[in-house]
Amino acid sequence: MKWSLNLRLWHWINAFVVLGLLGTVFLRKTFLSWRTNSELIMQKLSEYGIDITAEQAKAIAKAIRAPMWDWHIILGYALAVLIIWRVALFFTDSGKRNYVSFSKASLHKKLVKIGYIVLYIVIAFMAISGLVIHFYDVIGISKDTAHDIKEAHEAVYNFILLFVPLHIIGVVVADATDERGIISDMINGGDNKKD
Ligand code: HEM
Ligand code: HEM
Repeated sequence: MKWSLNLRLWHWINAFVVLGLLGTVFLRKTFLSWRTNSELIMQKLSEYGIDITAEQAKAIAKAIRAPMWDWHIILGYALAVLIIWRVALFFTDSGKRNYVSFSKASLHKKLVKIGYIVLYIVIAFMAISGLVIHFYDVIGISKDTAHDIKEAHEAVYNFILLFVPLHIIGVVVADATDERGIISDMINGGDNKKD
């Protein structure tokens, strides 16, 4: 079998968790943005003859966003566990199959494999930096340092934003051209003889 059940479960749970994390970021920056919503709250309330300050409107908008953002943290813990799981998988055949015969691979395949390794480093960074920002006062680091780490967390997020669509388009194109069944292999495990 090409991919063990263990690796396939890891792949699909990881995909779900990463897409979920991206979903929470999307909501935070769009429909649940405190900037947009605090203005809306102020405007609507003033139509009812109630005037509140920008500070109060901001607090309300952030309170509306909070239960959604809790999911960023919940999925964040899941991501941290998934990284430990992936490290353990490196000690299995499926976990290392993409990396053992690196030198024999085509240039394109080499770039794909390097892309995966960079992704692993990036998600490890996201998990560590995310946990550090979340627990900054428990760990005893200053708010300023936490803020700098948050900026790095947000900058590195762009790599994931690039990887996910490239990866999905990449495997769909591969499946439709010279690597038939590459996607169903990640679902049913695949056949070792085929490649
Ligand atoms: C939802 C659509 C997705 C599909 C159809 C899909 C499909 C696949 C397939 C077919 C492979 C094997 C390709 C190969 O051997 O080069 C693969 C590998 C991989 N996928 Fe996805 N994937 C999806 C989403 C994701 C997401 C969201 C992530 C996380 C960011 C992800 C992370 C990975 C990683 C890291 C590998 C390499 C596994 C290894 O180390 O060997 N995938 N995916
Ligand atoms: C794929 C992984 C992740 C991605 C793509 C991601 C993305 C982001 C982005 C873009 C922001 C900035 C949001 C903004 O200010 O508009 C952010 C903030 C944050 N993330 Fe993540 N993140 C990931 C993983 C994690 C993990 C594992 C944790 C830890 C539990 C975490 C905790 C946080 C925290 C605490 C903030 C700061 C929120 C605030 O300032 O109130 N993230 N994340």
